[in-house]
Formats: sequence, C-alpha cells, structure tokens
Amino acid sequence: MIDIKITRTSKSTLHEVDFSNLPFGKITSDHMFVADYKDGKWQNPRIEPVHELSLHPSTMALHYGQTVFEGMKASITEDGVPLLMRQELHWERFNKSAHRMCMPEIPADIFLGGLNALVYLEKDWIPKSVGSSLYLRPFMIATDAFIGVAPSTEYKFIILTLPVGPYYAKPIKLLAEHKYVRAVRGGVGEAKNGGNYGGSLYPSKLAREKGFDQVLWLDAFNYEELQEVGTMNIFCVVNGKILTPSLDGAILDGITRKCAIEILKRKGFEVEERPITIHELIDAHKAGTFTEMFGAGTAAVVSNIDKLCYKDVEMNFSHDNFVISNLVKNEINGLRNGSIPDVYHWFVPAKG
Ligand code: COI
Repeated sequence: MIDIKITRTSKSTLHEVDFSNLPFGKITSDHMFVADYKDGKWQNPRIEPVHELSLHPSTMALHYGQTVFEGMKASITEDGVPLLMRQELHWERFNKSAHRMCMPEIPADIFLGGLNALVYLEKDWIPKSVGSSLYLRPFMIATDAFIGVAPSTEYKFIILTLPVGPYYAKPIKLLAEHKYVRAVRGGVGEAKNGGNYGGSLYPSKLAREKGFDQVLWLDAFNYEELQEVGTMNIFCVVNGKILTPSLDGAILDGITRKCAIEILKRKGFEVEERPITIHELIDAHKAGTFTEMFGAGTAAVVSNIDKLCYKDVEMNFSHDNFVISNLVKNEINGLRNGSIPDVYHWFVPAKG
C-alpha cells in the first residue's frame, strides 16, 4: 500500500447536489487524487480538495494531445458498501493507452490505490437510484513546458469523481458517416486519447444539425465496416444472433462491451465478434431480420437505438423490440446496486 497524503476540504458542496436530477459530467465531488511523474518515477500521491490547475501556456498537453483517460463507475449497495467494477481491466487499458501515446505507465498501487482511497472517501457522493452512479475519470496529461514535438518528461495523473445520471436519457438516432472517419487501423483509435474525441466533434455537430444524436463510424478504407459510436461500442441483433464489430485496433476495447458479451453468452445467446458491413445490415433490415441495435459504454451503460441512417436509407427500430438491450442494461444496473447477485465476480468493495 502506498502512503497517500489526504487533505480534506473545509467546505463540502455535497448538500448542494440534487441527487434526484443529476446531469452527466457537470458536478464534481469534493476531492481529487493527484500524483506526479518526475525524474522517471511516480511520486507524491495525494488527495486534495478539487482545485484549478496552474499550467504554463506552453504545457505540452495543451498543444500535441499527449493525454489519456479512463471512464469508470462506482456504485453503492443498499447497506452502504461502495463498489468498483472491473477496476483491473480499466487500469490495464489505461496503461495500454499510455503506452500508445508514449506516456509512462502507472503502477497498480498509484492507480488502484488512489482510486480506492478516493472512492472510499467520497462514498457519500455515490448516487443510489438505478441508472445513476459515481463516474470516475482517471486521466494523465503531459506537463513539460516545451514547444517542441517530443514526449514530455513530466506528467500529472488525476482522478476526478462525478455523481451522474444517464448519459443518454432516451433512445438515440445514429447517422452512419461516409465522409469523415474516426480512426484507422494502426492509428490511435484503440487508445482513450483525448484527440479521438476532439476529432469526432465536427462530424457529430453536422449529424446533430440533421436531427441525429450521434455518428456511427465506419472503417476508413471502404466506409463499409461498422466501428463504434465514439461514446459507445455497438451491437446489432440480426436473425436472433448478436453481432458486434471485432476489435481491429481502430475501435475501443470497451469494458462494457466485454461485460455485455459475457452476460449474453452466459444467458445462452449466440454472440459473434466479426466485421459487420453497413450493406449487410441494410439487407437484413429489408428482410425484417435486423431487429435491434444498441450501444454499450461506461458512461452510456446500454443505450437503445431507434433509428440508423446511411445515405438515404433509413432503418427504424420499434421500441417493442428493445429486448436484448434492456436485458443487458437491467443486468448491469442490477449488478451495480447489488439487487442481482454478482455471479461474474466483477465487483469489489472500494478499500479506504
Ligand atoms: C465512457 O464511457 O466512460 C467514456 O469515456 C466515453 C465518453 C463519455 C467520452
């Protein structure tokens, strides 16, 4: 165990939060975890009141995108035990992202030790209602003050926690994008690097102007194979079989994606991870066999999709058919609040 210096706030804002009406991503809890990478090692792990950062304008993260992050959630049982879900997978993925972005990996005692101590300290901030949770945002930024393209020598690792409601409050409409691309095999699409999200904003804005909620990204070579939605991985139900794009290095190795696959297989469904083309989905929709589509991600949990468009082809999905998506959503939400026993062994109490 590492020694984490804890400085508590003298002015908690917990009482100001309306837990019955939580937006996503706007409210941070009282404290954050911070560690610095300097002289080749991680040091000075601490928990402090959330405060602004002071950065020199030439701080490298502000210029060349050497930033990575994770999205995780903590929940709480009826009897008040704070739970973390599959924390090791998030830690491993964070380090994979860091490696790809030429950033130092973070040892378990800093990442998981800091996370556990922070979640335990902030356990009163964990919402109790179904569909709400404490969103955890570990991230790392390059902090050298240097205007040159090179890996930074110093970094800051921070974990924020935010009580959140649903990311998408209702079923969403997707536009399959055939001009812009999110990522290409060999690029950084698999990493949770800030730039992947920044690059998606303009095409997403254009899609929103046409009445869609999100872009469904297609592959960068032929604009045919489904990738992901950017905020979520994607699943399609065709002929009663559940299809999801295989991991090809361009899409995120989603942890909720992995959970959904494990849940569905355990419940006896056939799940295929393979390349899926937009054309086969259009054909299946015409034949009446493409019945359901949903997204899976930490923030979004499971999000129903009621429309998918590609060029002038429009595919609508009846809310009555949201069967598989609701099954996965209810299972994850039930596991989170302890109303469904954790036969998967994904949850562990946060240790203070
Ligand atoms: C998450 O699902 O946690 C993500 O990181 C996606 C998004 C909110 C950026």
